[in-house]
Amino acid sequence: MCGIVGAVAQRDVMSILVEGLRRLEYRGYDSSGVAIIDKYNAVQRTRRVGKVQELADALHANPLSGGTGIAHTRWATHGIPSESNAHPHVSGDGAQSANIAVVHNGIIENHGPLREKLKKAGYEFTSQTDTEVIAHLVHFELQTSETLLEAVQKTVKQFEGAYGTVVLDSNTPEKMVVARSGSPLVIGLGLDENFIASDMMALLPVTRKFMFLEEGDVAQVTRFDVSVYNKKGKLVERESKEHDISHEASDKGEYRHYMMKEIFEQPTAVRNTLENGFNGNDINYDAFGHNAEEIFKGIEHVQIIACGTSYHSGMVARYWLESLANISCSVEIASEFRYRKSFVPKKSLIVTLSQSGETADTLAALRLAKEIGYQSSLCVCNVPGSSLVRESDLTFLTKAGAEIGVASTKAFTTQLVGLLMMTIAIGKTRGMDETQQNNIIQSLKALPNTLESALTLDKPIEELAEDFADKHHSLFLGRGAQYPIAMEGALKLKEISYIHAEAYAAGELKHGPLALIDAKMPVIVVAPNNELLEKLKSNVEEVRARGGLMYVFADVNAHFESDDTLKVLNVVHCDDVVAPIVYTLPLQLLSYYVAIIKGTDVDQPRNLAKSVTVE
Ligand code: G6P
Repeated sequence: MCGIVGAVAQRDVMSILVEGLRRLEYRGYDSSGVAIIDKYNAVQRTRRVGKVQELADALHANPLSGGTGIAHTRWATHGIPSESNAHPHVSGDGAQSANIAVVHNGIIENHGPLREKLKKAGYEFTSQTDTEVIAHLVHFELQTSETLLEAVQKTVKQFEGAYGTVVLDSNTPEKMVVARSGSPLVIGLGLDENFIASDMMALLPVTRKFMFLEEGDVAQVTRFDVSVYNKKGKLVERESKEHDISHEASDKGEYRHYMMKEIFEQPTAVRNTLENGFNGNDINYDAFGHNAEEIFKGIEHVQIIACGTSYHSGMVARYWLESLANISCSVEIASEFRYRKSFVPKKSLIVTLSQSGETADTLAALRLAKEIGYQSSLCVCNVPGSSLVRESDLTFLTKAGAEIGVASTKAFTTQLVGLLMMTIAIGKTRGMDETQQNNIIQSLKALPNTLESALTLDKPIEELAEDFADKHHSLFLGRGAQYPIAMEGALKLKEISYIHAEAYAAGELKHGPLALIDAKMPVIVVAPNNELLEKLKSNVEEVRARGGLMYVFADVNAHFESDDTLKVLNVVHCDDVVAPIVYTLPLQLLSYYVAIIKGTDVDQPRNLAKSVTVE
């Protein structure tokens, strides 16, 4: 989704801004732009629709230079993707003498009335965006303010909605004023130069030292100093930290796409996530944060909330928590949970799942849960310092490393690892027996190697993907904890190959989807060797009897035979408890190779964003 980069430095900042935007491309966007204050203290601006490369080419032909600048990648919400809607937006005494430039992530919900008020005051709008309101409102407030900081403080008080915004005034060229509420912003601290971004990733070439702003903060950033004011306008200190995220994390290495790199990183990502998770053969409660054991002892229900792929990992966790930890669990999509009146079972733990830790609906659901009486909160998250992490009582940090591909892969499997560890941690407080606990821990410890073996299916899956080249629809089937894995497989296929894919619990086949079966509808079946195997085999026969074409990912001991209508891909044998994690990998590979054949943009599929920071 939209990305922000800003810099105030002695050196020319154009290349820093453009490189920052490139590093945010993975989040999904449709246009981009940059504004720099030049040596004559004038705002110079270039904007383009399409890839950042278009903007870079335009800037190569007509470079902008100056030490203070802001840049943005836009994912359209208000107004079509067009040059006039792209940020930065400006305001001033007529467009030629604009002195205010603004970039913004989020949505100003009351932009309509504010726009009317500003029009009455004589401002002319040149875009359909809510963001242009910010530029004019700051300009308006500046007429009665001593400083840009004061004008921005007065401006944001008038907003309803979410914003992460950076404002420049060419009359005071060596500073940026930034404000956040509901949309993340991080300040990058350099030596006599400072930066701002919506994601640390953008600033890795220039700094590793970051300061996170809190909700409602407004900050003034100069080359030498950062002053932060909280929502009451009080000067506050915000902690800054060195982060050890690797610069290389954002390189593709030998791979053609980030997604492929990230699929193959899963054994390592899982190994890293398991680190610190155990004390010998016992679970390490500290991996969940301070007082985790006590908190787990006091709960009677788990409510999981997430969006997208993270929601699927929550659905798997429900099977684990109820069958292994003996605790009731419900799972809900965050955008549903936050807008309904729900019943809060006594002593409930709210568990949010998120790769980014910034998904607007998930964050809003957590805040609501706190208001309506949930006892404690835990998040399973891949980004240290993210909003969810900061606002939850407990955190389990997955160590997937930076995930760049929009379609989530390693974040999902590491989330599952975290959730299985959480299952043991809660189960132990509710009498899970030691043998069961040891078995799960052994399966988890063996998991990186099991995943390596699962990845050896790479070539056969590449060949099989050819069959999907001319298909428009597909069905994914699974049972038990593999049902959400079938859902995740279907989501991956539709996200990156644009083939319509639906997942069903195999037992539901007769209740409707069987009517769709013919030779044009490939059916993908997830079939580990567990107590549901015979039931699943009956479902396979139901499809076969109707002339369906099947692709079965099966345990080597499940004894499926390939024939004209059924292709079997044998997946490494594994303990049933970790099978949802293991069977995810072949499904990821399948969607990847189908997308390659279809020629789609694998890492940045159309219309999608990596981190959905607006609802
Ligand atoms: C977007 C991404 C998905 C992701 C979902 C939730 O839709 O494209 O890959 O699963 O957001 O994101 P989160 O960061 O909360 O896991």
